[in-house]
Amino acid sequence: KTKIVVVDKNVDEENSYTQAVDILKSGEVVAFPTETVYGLGADATNFEAVSKIFEAKGRPADNPLIVHVDSKETALRYVQEVSSKALDCMDAFWPGALTLILKAEPEIFASNVTADLQTVGIRVPNHPVALTLLQKLQLPLAAPSANTSGKPSPTLAEHVFHDMESKIPLILDGGATEIGIESTVLDMTSEPPVILRPGKVSKEQIEAVIGTVRSSSGNTSNVPKSPGMKYMHYAPTAPLYLIENEKGLIEKAIEYVQGKGKRIAVISETEYPMADFNFPLSMDSLYASLRKCDLTDADLILASVESGTKENDALMNRLEKAADHKWFS
Ligand code: TXA
Ligand code: MG
Repeated sequence: KTKIVVVDKNVDEENSYTQAVDILKSGEVVAFPTETVYGLGADATNFEAVSKIFEAKGRPADNPLIVHVDSKETALRYVQEVSSKALDCMDAFWPGALTLILKAEPEIFASNVTADLQTVGIRVPNHPVALTLLQKLQLPLAAPSANTSGKPSPTLAEHVFHDMESKIPLILDGGATEIGIESTVLDMTSEPPVILRPGKVSKEQIEAVIGTVRSSSGNTSNVPKSPGMKYMHYAPTAPLYLIENEKGLIEKAIEYVQGKGKRIAVISETEYPMADFNFPLSMDSLYASLRKCDLTDADLILASVESGTKENDALMNRLEKAADHKWFS
């Protein structure tokens, strides 16, 4: 029931896009690649269509969606009270992995896109398939990551297929996504602007363009500005623990767990031959590695946190969420 169309190698590319556009215009959802992760797209002006995204993902209705558009010019038709800082961010980072929270132009978006907020998260993705689709569609495309809610975001079409099989009619397969974690979310309605979700576009890069921004990562208050941040995310099935990569500690942990007759998977930059399973750890491999753990019979997963990893806000944010902040000790 779910069809996968390979767009990058397809001889009949034009037809693939036509199919996708027709499906989207008829109010159904289509999964497509972006440079960050795969998105699950629907016409952002159509309430019924957008509700199918929530249904397919099992996503809580109070978690708003990111709207994708083909250019800054298109974005400016859908938002208002755009500050010069916001314009500077668009010029500096679009197309790219930065989502801007801005005041929405009223009466454009279906209410379930914004979860009834006055604001909207909007970005221009930097991926040829996403951009071609948006140019042909000529509609704003609401798209969260194309995973089942709570599971790691998809970085391959097969991840989308695994989660969405028979729930959606079409997946555009553009190969592996380049960045591998979701966009940075920057709230431009506060002053100074606030990073609601860290991503590939770093605080330093943003500050180089617009000056001071605040960082709200690690904010677990009950009334988060970015509703999605309160939900646990990206979790594999077996319990995942973070572990400091100090001398001998990981080996000891592996021995201890195996001594109890349990199987262990290690996600790390370097391999641990004693572990039952090893998977790579980097921004672009983390989600695939978490999904691979789910395909093993590991009872426990360790993710090795190198000293360098700790300085990577975006990667640490995803690791801590996946582990639900559990450290092995
Ligand atoms: O890289 C990405 O951003 C991917 C690709 C597909 O573009 N999309 C993505 O969407 O990660 P999603 O829905 O999984 O994450 C959207 C995040 C959530 O944390 C949500 O709460 C926040 O953006 N968000 C969306 N609209 C918002 C708004 N109006 N105010 C505050 N936060 C908002
Ligand atoms: Mg998501």
